[in-house]
Amino acid sequence: MADFETVVVETDLLILGGGMAACGAAVEAAYWAMQNGLKVTLVDKAAVDRSGAVAMGLSAINQYVGLKDGANTVKDYVDYVRNDLMGITREDLVANIARHVDSTVHLFEKWGLPIWKDENGNYVHEGRWQLMINGESYKVVVAEAAKNALLQSGVGQIFERVFIVGPLMDGERCAGAVGFSVRENKFYIFKSKATLVAMGGAVHVFKPRSSGEGMGRAWYPPWNSGSSAYFTIKAGAEMTCQEVRFIPVRFKDAYGPVGAWFLLFKSRATNSQGGNYMIERKDELDKWGPYGRVKPVPANLRNYLGMLDVMEGKGPIYMRTEEAIQQIAETYKGDEKAYKKKMKELESEAWEDFLDMTISQALLWASTNVQPEEQSSEIAAAEPYFIGSHSGASGAWVSGPEDLQTDETRSEYFWGYAHMSTVKGLFCAGDASGASSHKFSSGSHAEGRIAAKAAIKFIVDNNTMPALDPVALEALKAEILKPLDTYEQHKNATTDPEINPNYIKPRMFMFRLQKIMDEYAGGITAQFTTNEALLKKALDLLAFLKEDSAKLAAANHHELMRCWENVHRMWQAEAHVRTILFREETRWPGYYYRADKPKIDEEKWHVFANCRFDPQSTTWEMKARPILHIFASQPKEPALASV
Ligand code: FAD
Ligand code: ADX
Repeated sequence: MADFETVVVETDLLILGGGMAACGAAVEAAYWAMQNGLKVTLVDKAAVDRSGAVAMGLSAINQYVGLKDGANTVKDYVDYVRNDLMGITREDLVANIARHVDSTVHLFEKWGLPIWKDENGNYVHEGRWQLMINGESYKVVVAEAAKNALLQSGVGQIFERVFIVGPLMDGERCAGAVGFSVRENKFYIFKSKATLVAMGGAVHVFKPRSSGEGMGRAWYPPWNSGSSAYFTIKAGAEMTCQEVRFIPVRFKDAYGPVGAWFLLFKSRATNSQGGNYMIERKDELDKWGPYGRVKPVPANLRNYLGMLDVMEGKGPIYMRTEEAIQQIAETYKGDEKAYKKKMKELESEAWEDFLDMTISQALLWASTNVQPEEQSSEIAAAEPYFIGSHSGASGAWVSGPEDLQTDETRSEYFWGYAHMSTVKGLFCAGDASGASSHKFSSGSHAEGRIAAKAAIKFIVDNNTMPALDPVALEALKAEILKPLDTYEQHKNATTDPEINPNYIKPRMFMFRLQKIMDEYAGGITAQFTTNEALLKKALDLLAFLKEDSAKLAAANHHELMRCWENVHRMWQAEAHVRTILFREETRWPGYYYRADKPKIDEEKWHVFANCRFDPQSTTWEMKARPILHIFASQPKEPALASV
């Protein structure tokens, strides 16, 4: 067996991931751990300063409710999220995050994040819920606070460049995690009393638009590969909304976000004939139940109207940047100096939007001589992603907070500790927890704080270290390191290490997965369309892929990580296919279209579609859970007490 030292780390709370949710968790956990004499350990596969979706920075904070100035209520936010998700949302979870998120944003500002202010000192809004920031160092600022909280208090430790593979269990209780260093020959066993999963969502499950030299360029960060979903599925946690993928419309090929253009610059998108699909196809919205006529139009329906244009041969679709900039500057036209100044300002804001968060889009503009004030840029629907924190919803099914439950919701949505999955001691936040969309960077951080506080309470109530079987741990170590052994054993069978009858390298394995998902589960090639027969075929092919995963081979640490990333993606794929199959309707056209069930069915499918993999019997169970409402009165004030 590959020669890896086993390192055992014992801790009270184990935080998995180092992104927005994990950093929020670290800050809050440090405070409560100090009060209770507990230890906290955070593990990230990368370096916390620049890991996760916010690694490159962001140009906006997408969730700020503004409770203090009375701009909005928590219920307003819940209504917005429910409408955007075509009625499928856990109101208790969304409300819990919404009532805490402003305090997280105020912490960001205190820690040094520059938020745009107007001449009166008020935040500059991109849209109703979004604040503009100078965010190129957003992640560094948030990471510094997390590191300070854990390390300066003495309660915490941080492991970077350690890839988490999967859960450790003591019967029904989560007992920690296993992983390996991506730099050294070290296999890690983390034993914990509670574990908080915050390892993001998944990209590259579907074939991406970017191929060849562009491979790896995607909207969602390539290093989030489904580890949260794999971890919770393998622990036996109930999962929710696994069918709700997110397809963002983005500036084509470099995936620059559109929010600032649509909301701040008030830009239109038009087809090659100059038609505006949001106006020309308005009647289509009537087909989608009560959700077609809400404001703003749900993200998937906005996508869908544009896709109909493309399918009718009216593409490309253009973001009319030149028109939007001209229209804003127009009001300064009488005063030449003021006009010129405004144009310069708008031009630099346009570039900064991308330089803050999607630098490659600015590079693409520069290399193709695009001046946004003079010409439009093409936009297109990206490949599907799994991101429970944005306009998708996939993740683990977690308990809501006790104080927001009604007599009706309590038995369905509450089981003791806020944001704990159905597995004892296993908490989730950010992309890892489902049915609470539109939390974005700020809401994920707030949810991390909420979940960490609850996890510490769980530890105080269950203050025993779970037991682990040493024989099972050895077997797990052998299984995890097996790709290295497979490679060593067979590498001389051929002259090209990439091609070998005895093994498959992770890159090729990923291509197989992506082909299955693209063609059978409604990827780009299939114009996001699928049906029962295609989905069943996808499941057959995924079963073969799972068999082949035993033959994965890794030449080094990096490839070992790539092997497990792809196993994680494969499990995310299976949960997705099973759940689209289960939900016999089309609810989110623009995300996917089930051609054999082409309509929304409010009567039967106004429910959560949940699934659970039983680790003992290795079978999947699908179940519908009711959608219940919580708003009799406004939720109470925030209950967190971060340092
Ligand atoms: P992440 O922040 O992605 O963190 C995941 C963490 O898990 C990372 O540290 C990663 O290294 C780690 N990890 C993954 N796998 C493993 C493993 N196996 N072992 C150990 N660690 C692992 N939100 C806004 O508010 N405003 C915006 O303008 C905005 N723009 C966005 C632009 C882009 C391109 C993207 C992709 C997202 C954007 N968002 C924006 C959304 C926001 O970034 C996410 O909602 C938020 O980062 C989710 O937090 P998270 O902690 O769940 O995941
Ligand atoms: S980002 O996360 O990559 O920055 P994006 O650019 O799509 O996301 O959106 C930023 C914010 O604007 C999100 O809150 C999104 O829901 C919202 N948004 C984007 N486009 C529109 C639109 N056309 N109408 C309403 N809201 C929008």
